[in-house]
Amino acid sequence: MGKTVICPGSFDPVTLGHLDIISRASKMFDHVIVAVLVNPAKEQSSFSIQERIELLVEATKGLDNIEIVSFQGLLAEYAKERNVTVIVKGLRAVSDFEYEFQMALTNKRINPELETIFLTTESKYMYLSSSIVKQIASLGGSIKGFVPDCVLDRIVERLSKKQLPENSED
Ligand code: PNS
Repeated sequence: MGKTVICPGSFDPVTLGHLDIISRASKMFDHVIVAVLVNPAKEQSSFSIQERIELLVEATKGLDNIEIVSFQGLLAEYAKERNVTVIVKGLRAVSDFEYEFQMALTNKRINPELETIFLTTESKYMYLSSSIVKQIASLGGSIKGFVPDCVLDRIVERLSKKQLPENSED
């Protein structure tokens, strides 16, 4: 049987950084489950789970060993359910490290079979994140080169409808 891995994330929305990790994982493993999960630390999402799935499906059209799913509970439980023992995540700057390390160890504590492996980001995506994309688009800037071209218009249209609260500097 081939090796299946899970690439988990919030994907709110998918960026070129995410797509880079997913496509590299798809070359290394036989089957990649891209799991859209809720990150309780991120208070408000901009895209519904269904929208995030649709964007990911569109963005990964050229890759044939990818499955896009969503799950409401713990990642470690989902991995157990699917009989998957490897999680693949992207690691950007050092600032990601502590948070990712904590998640990897916690997931292993919940499900001791579960290993997390990290792919270092392409340097051009080092400072790219969904939050940065949302901030730029909501203030009218261009996010071309930050998100996959095939979903660019849809993301821009959706984000331009979202207004930041007045006087908000956060
Ligand atoms: O893209 P993100 O926000 O860095 O992804 C984080 C995510 C969604 C993978 C993480 O928050 C997660 O696994 N959420 C599911 C709930 C869970 O398992 N929490 C415990 C992780 S230690």
